[in-house]
Amino acid sequence: MIRIDVQRGHPPADALVQFVFREGERLVWYDRLRALAGGDILPEGGTGFSGRERETLLLFPDNLAAPRLLLVGAGNAGACDAERLRRCAALAARTLRSLGVRSAAIMEPDECVLSSLGPDAAGAYGTAVAEGILLGLYRYDRYRTVKPPAIERLARIVLLAPSPANAHRSMLDGVAFARTVCAATCLARDLSNAPPNDMYPATLAEAARSAGRRSGFRVTVYDERKIRALGMGGLTGVGGGSARAPRLIVMRYDGRGGKGRRSRRRPVVIVGKGVTFDSGGISIKPSAGMAEMKMDMAGGATVIGVMQAAASLKLPDPLVGIVPAAENLPGPSAFRPGDILRHANGMTSEVDNTDAEGRLMLADALAFASTFAPALVIDLATLTGAVVVALGHVTTGMLGTDEEAMRNIAESGRRVYERVWELPMFEEYEPLIKSDVADVKNTGGRWGGAITAAMFLKKFAGATPWVHLDIAGTAIQEEGADYTVKGGSGVGVRLLVDYLRRRTA
Ligand code: BES
Ligand code: MN
Ligand code: ZN
Repeated sequence: MIRIDVQRGHPPADALVQFVFREGERLVWYDRLRALAGGDILPEGGTGFSGRERETLLLFPDNLAAPRLLLVGAGNAGACDAERLRRCAALAARTLRSLGVRSAAIMEPDECVLSSLGPDAAGAYGTAVAEGILLGLYRYDRYRTVKPPAIERLARIVLLAPSPANAHRSMLDGVAFARTVCAATCLARDLSNAPPNDMYPATLAEAARSAGRRSGFRVTVYDERKIRALGMGGLTGVGGGSARAPRLIVMRYDGRGGKGRRSRRRPVVIVGKGVTFDSGGISIKPSAGMAEMKMDMAGGATVIGVMQAAASLKLPDPLVGIVPAAENLPGPSAFRPGDILRHANGMTSEVDNTDAEGRLMLADALAFASTFAPALVIDLATLTGAVVVALGHVTTGMLGTDEEAMRNIAESGRRVYERVWELPMFEEYEPLIKSDVADVKNTGGRWGGAITAAMFLKKFAGATPWVHLDIAGTAIQEEGADYTVKGGSGVGVRLLVDYLRRRTA
């Protein structure tokens, strides 16, 4: 991970970066830099640089502490928010990396930035800028034997702090927080992007174990025998077709109720779908795009990421993470359409389509979750193609039974820019998943697929307050933008960390 420091003064660096805001026709930045340089730094006649978002200009002034000056357009000063800073920082970091510089310094935030970021503006600035850098520089190149060219040497970026000492302190805290959530987000990205020949239930469980060791939470992994003993017919059924047996990963963080004591509050339980590859099973998917289904464990990856962040941040409240992990393949012992499965709470479901496998495993996991006497259960799953049709790759679908939790999660979504949108669970959708032979059927017909999937899950959440996040669109990006890259996005980590933090604040 690149080093990010916070400093006052202007240390020598290979490049200086200035985010340039506009105020009408005027550009905000110039006066201070000119003072710093002791004279003009723009060529006579101007450069045509207008400060629009995503515009950059590289200059080589001879009177600054750095040989290069990178201007990054930041748009109108008026409504500057954290998202604008993330984007500017990501663009700056990527540009610096491709220039081959080793070190850079980002100029102090202008007054117009600090005045629009709320009470802890310096902290929010530090977090947003560091997030943009850390997430924007992410790449998945574990499997390249020829590493990207040696021009990529960017090792350190300094955020220059404004003068009051407390601003320096809070910027530092803001950066430290970003480092933790971004490490967790990048872990989730790594797990999602890993190829399915190496990422299967047992190795996903290993990843959870090492995250637990690193950051301080307990991990229990149940093997197939134990899963069967728990009565989890959904997880057993979905995993049946693969030579790689299913696992149930259970993670526990006790919370720090002050002075290192464990908290006595009821836990939040987060559940993540962990289908390490979804071929569709006997109801096999078309081959075009099937490789994408290596990311069908993204919900599980996010849960592992959130556990790591919560433990690293020493959040006060207890948190339990549950990831049912299985590989959905056709094979001699695969489950079939027509099968009736019995779940951990005793309920039965009719398998109409083996490609609707996520809900079958989540049914067991949600029933199991309720045995922790949770205050709230949140599940994350790449559950339906239908949610991608409805909301694209921009917005996560949210459904559930806890109105207050959903309001707060939506608010966190706006804060961290991982936005969610609620879909309805009206009773009229219920009959669509009625079965003639079992308690419920695992498909609901052609229409409203994201909703009927959630209606299925609701039966297993029972009376426990519950929120479901369908991340099928947002967890898998078809192209990169700003601080995301093509592939796994790690969506949900920053969202839930913000939610959990504010829940106890
Ligand atoms: N993992 C898929 C959903 C999915 C689709 C995730 C696209 C990411 C991108 C899920 O298991 C699935 O196959 N769902 C089916 C359900 C249907 C058979 C009722 C779907 O959405 O088509
Ligand atoms: Mn499927
Ligand atoms: Zn799936």
